[in-house]
Amino acid sequence: MREVAVIGTGMNKWGELWEKSLRDIFVEAALKAIDNSGIDKIDSMYVGCMTSGLFVGQEHLASLLSDYLGYGPIPTCRVESACASGGLAIRQGIIDVASGVSDIVLVGGIEKMNDVDGGGATDALATASDQEWEAFNGITFPGIYALMARAHMEKYGTTRDQLSHVSVKNHNNGLLNPNAQFKLKATLESVKNAVMVATPLTLMDCSPVTDGAAAVVLCSLDTAKKMGKTPLVVLKGMGHATNSIALHTRKDLTTIESTTMAAQQAYKMAGVGPKDINFAEVHDCFTIAEIMATESLGFFERGEGGKAAESGITALGGKMPINTSGGLKSKGHPVGATGVAQVCEVVSQLKGCAGDRQLKNPRRGLTHNMGGSGGSSLVHIWEVL
Ligand code: COA
Repeated sequence: MREVAVIGTGMNKWGELWEKSLRDIFVEAALKAIDNSGIDKIDSMYVGCMTSGLFVGQEHLASLLSDYLGYGPIPTCRVESACASGGLAIRQGIIDVASGVSDIVLVGGIEKMNDVDGGGATDALATASDQEWEAFNGITFPGIYALMARAHMEKYGTTRDQLSHVSVKNHNNGLLNPNAQFKLKATLESVKNAVMVATPLTLMDCSPVTDGAAAVVLCSLDTAKKMGKTPLVVLKGMGHATNSIALHTRKDLTTIESTTMAAQQAYKMAGVGPKDINFAEVHDCFTIAEIMATESLGFFERGEGGKAAESGITALGGKMPINTSGGLKSKGHPVGATGVAQVCEVVSQLKGCAGDRQLKNPRRGLTHNMGGSGGSSLVHIWEVL
């Protein structure tokens, strides 16, 4: 397998982008990544997108987007794994380069979610849950994560305030990210007292409905070196695992097994453990998801994720910064784009160009992207040479 480097990243400002179409949003991010990489050709392209058919009525997406991008007729396909579609697209791009089939690959992620109303968005997102056992009976994703939160609170004593700490931290980080959807200062009180969505999760525990795209350019390490790219960010480990979509068939609601399995694969491939990771972008679609992800990735013991958030360990100046970008909570969650944007953030941090939220000389970062309530998980480990 050839080693793979990231030589370009691109993102646009996320939010409610009424004036732009899905294809405009994608092309903008993709051209930024191409410009950032300095390349003039692409061998192939992967697009992470959960459900453009339901959100904007457009399928056959990869061909459409490569045509609008104007980089010639290239092999391209769309990749879908619910909210982990972007992470899965990254994995496919890596495999393409590592196998030697392609040398330069563009990986993009896109979702335009605001062209439907709130009910339409909830219905579209619910297709990532088990239709017969979950969606048909009326439960939505906030409801599913509320069940997980309650189980975690009962088993480990995780508190309402600990959930709030995750939201406050991610909104603080988002204030430093020019591309974030929300620029707001949250407090423990404003999170707890926001409108209740599904007990115990309030509006301020939920990621929002977002329009946005992100893109990265991958190539073989040899090619990146020949191009004189420095500093070089390379892939060190990757993992991909799935689990039952429906919550009721899981042994334990308080942990995300697919994440643990994907992380074990990634750590093994990279030859490192959780303690060797300097920072991470994790899938905080709801505050409880960040707490469970940080435990399932092995950063903290089971039941300790809430305490870690409360103690400040996961804050920007803490020992294990989590979601320096603002995470899904503040930066936004255009579902198909999220996994790609996580890589953009980790690469920016590793290259020392993360602006006001820059960490001090990080060497190794991890990205964790999850589909639904953990029906799929992707973990990637990145290192700066
Ligand atoms: N966090 C903070 N503020 C939010 C927000 C969020 N997640 N979602 C919306 N808002 C704000 C809006 O900006 C708006 O503010 P304004 O009145 O100052 O303009 C206000 O709340 C109402 O917005 P609206 O779009 O009407 O909210 P909504 O009630 O339709 O949607 C949720 C709120 C929580 C239901 C929606 O964001 C949601 O479904 N989130 C979860 C998405 C999801 O499940 N993703 C997949 C994860 S697996």
